[in-house]
Amino acid sequence: MKRSKSTVIFVCQNCGSNSPRWIGKCPACSEWNTYVEELGTKEKVNPVLKTKSKPILIDEISSGNEERIKTEITEMDRVLGGGLISGSAVLIGGDPGIGKSTLALQIFGKYSENGFKVLYVTGEESSKQIQIRAKRLNIKGENLYVVTETNIDSIINNIENNNPAVVVIDSIQTIYSSDLPSASGSVGQIRECTSKVIQYAKNKNISFFLIGHVTKEGSIAGPKVLEHLVDTVLYFEGGKSHPYRILRAVKNRYGSTNEIGVFEMTNDGLKEVTNPSEIFLSERPLNSSGSIVTPSIEGTRPILVEIQALVSPCNFGVPRRTTIGLDSNRVSLLVAVLEKRGGLHITSQDIFMNVAGGVKLEEPAIDLGICMSLVSSFLNKPVSAQTIVFGEVGLSGEIRGVSQVDVRLKEAEKLGFKKFLLPKINIDSMDNKSKKQKYIGIENISQAIEILFE
Ligand code: TYD
Ligand code: MG
Repeated sequence: MKRSKSTVIFVCQNCGSNSPRWIGKCPACSEWNTYVEELGTKEKVNPVLKTKSKPILIDEISSGNEERIKTEITEMDRVLGGGLISGSAVLIGGDPGIGKSTLALQIFGKYSENGFKVLYVTGEESSKQIQIRAKRLNIKGENLYVVTETNIDSIINNIENNNPAVVVIDSIQTIYSSDLPSASGSVGQIRECTSKVIQYAKNKNISFFLIGHVTKEGSIAGPKVLEHLVDTVLYFEGGKSHPYRILRAVKNRYGSTNEIGVFEMTNDGLKEVTNPSEIFLSERPLNSSGSIVTPSIEGTRPILVEIQALVSPCNFGVPRRTTIGLDSNRVSLLVAVLEKRGGLHITSQDIFMNVAGGVKLEEPAIDLGICMSLVSSFLNKPVSAQTIVFGEVGLSGEIRGVSQVDVRLKEAEKLGFKKFLLPKINIDSMDNKSKKQKYIGIENISQAIEILFE
């Protein structure tokens, strides 16, 4: 399928100026390496004369059939916001080897079992390899078709002939369009192929999963080129050294973001983890200093996680700060607050922090947990294993209120925690008197240190 009157032009991704050839430095905005090839049309037609679109009242737009195709893998459905919307495109990104193909095959196994016709397009592995994996995962494939193909037009052709309900393209980096001369995997190719897929999906109401490898910089195929094109972006994360994998929604036009699904990679595929708090806390060392449990809200549910700190004297040079699973700027800020407002001489120490289980935490409600684990390690005094703490810490050392307190407390109570330190302002706004007495309200960081360590 050759487009008429189409030419390849190179467009600066920073300022939009274009050139018939690739250039390293944009003459218009002086940025380097911003030219990406795109398809352009030679003759300009006046869009006003050609347009067929016409505004309609919002209430009169037919709502269509916004039906969701459930995968029946609870963790997956939750992340998607209750199942896959037909006609939508979902990007699954992650490091190579994390389990993206396994996840896709398992979802398709479920769809196939439930009578949906699905097509697995593989550009990376042979059909034989997919079959071997499907056998290993014990997948019943009555409605699961596989094709090895890398040309986007042939793929669309295959879809046309086969008429599946859902298609996965594994991976988008291996697909190319013959309209562009560059190699597959380049920004221009990836963008062109993805927009073709999305246009097709919207017209024919077929849903797509696109699998993309995360490049070294941590974004999918360069500067996040796909994220604005697709409806949903999911990242599959987790250290390869431990079995837990976290599927995180970073963009979702049809559901909440920051929702996570937790899986465990086993010998026969990915298993859902329905009680992540228990799993994340299962290996927690009791009565060891530097370990604190805090409830964090991930999407719509609370998860209890263990924050670990190791504070040790710095022997020479600049003290080291290493954090895994936490924002290192946030940790530096909290260390400064502890020094100034908590009266601890901690800034000159080497500090290592980790969140057990490979989870990444972002909300400010974990601030107090970070601080208390630092203090516990610094003083070498363990905190009783049945304690949880949470609250946002301000620069004056004040403890600020957080949202969804009830949900956090409920999860902690369910798992047998007995001592609760939380922002005083949150307790003040509770109406139940007996509840108020059960919890310890904290106003500032020194008060928290006093309660836990003196
Ligand atoms: P894969 O899905 O191929 O990763 P990706 O598509 O993200 O590159 O899976 C990679 C790893 O998962 C591989 O190292 C083997 C492991 N694995 C299991 O541990 N159990 C299994 O049942 C399967 C299928 C894979
Ligand atoms: Mg793969």
